[in-house]
Amino acid sequence: MDGNGRWAKKKLLPRLVGHSKGLQSVRKIIEYCIKYNVNTLTIYAFSTENWKRPIKEVDGLIKLFSESISRESKKIHSNNIKLKFIGDTSIFTEPLQLKIKEIERETSRNKRLILNVALNYGGRLDIVNSVNSFYENQKIIKKITEKNINSGLYTKGQFDVDLLIRTGGQQRMSNFLLWQSAYAELYFSKKLWPDFDEKVFVNALYFFQNTERKFGSI
Ligand code: FPP
Repeated sequence: MDGNGRWAKKKLLPRLVGHSKGLQSVRKIIEYCIKYNVNTLTIYAFSTENWKRPIKEVDGLIKLFSESISRESKKIHSNNIKLKFIGDTSIFTEPLQLKIKEIERETSRNKRLILNVALNYGGRLDIVNSVNSFYENQKIIKKITEKNINSGLYTKGQFDVDLLIRTGGQQRMSNFLLWQSAYAELYFSKKLWPDFDEKVFVNALYFFQNTERKFGSI
């Protein structure tokens, strides 16, 4: 969801206004996923590196997450969406952690769309945590397999990433779902995240549909 800051700057507005506008694009992409039968959507809301931003922006972002979880939780549940937070959420305040646990529990049986929200998430952290949890749970240390690592990731039990969309014009992964995206198709759009719309989404789907996936074969 890249480009919130630039969107705001272009309009001479504070960066946080860009993030609020970006939240509207989150609502839009959820609607499109339901409309086009996508079964899992993961949004990268806050990375393990985003703490380097000015404290005012970090606090504003966390307030935005917290308020929107409270405000949207009923709507998420009534739309049959299963909400899951991926990343190390233990760093957040107790009330926010409780809110996260409560909505995860409430929506855990929902089937229409899995919505993963990556908060304090890093792909490297995900892999390291998975390996450590495997060692912690085993008495005898043996060779770790791909299956072991899969089963310890925040996304355990979910499919690998098929299509990764990045807005804002940069063409990099920025530590997002590194393991899960091993065979993902990568779609980059120059649109800034607050300007994300159905056309960008459908173009990304067309791109995916017209790509021959080989998974290493010929
Ligand atoms: C990247 O744009 C965006 C973020 C780090 C934050 C994204 C968060 C939201 C859109 C709010 C989502 C809310 C919930 C509840 C999930 P940037 O700031 O790096 O933009 P720039 O590259 O133009 O500076």
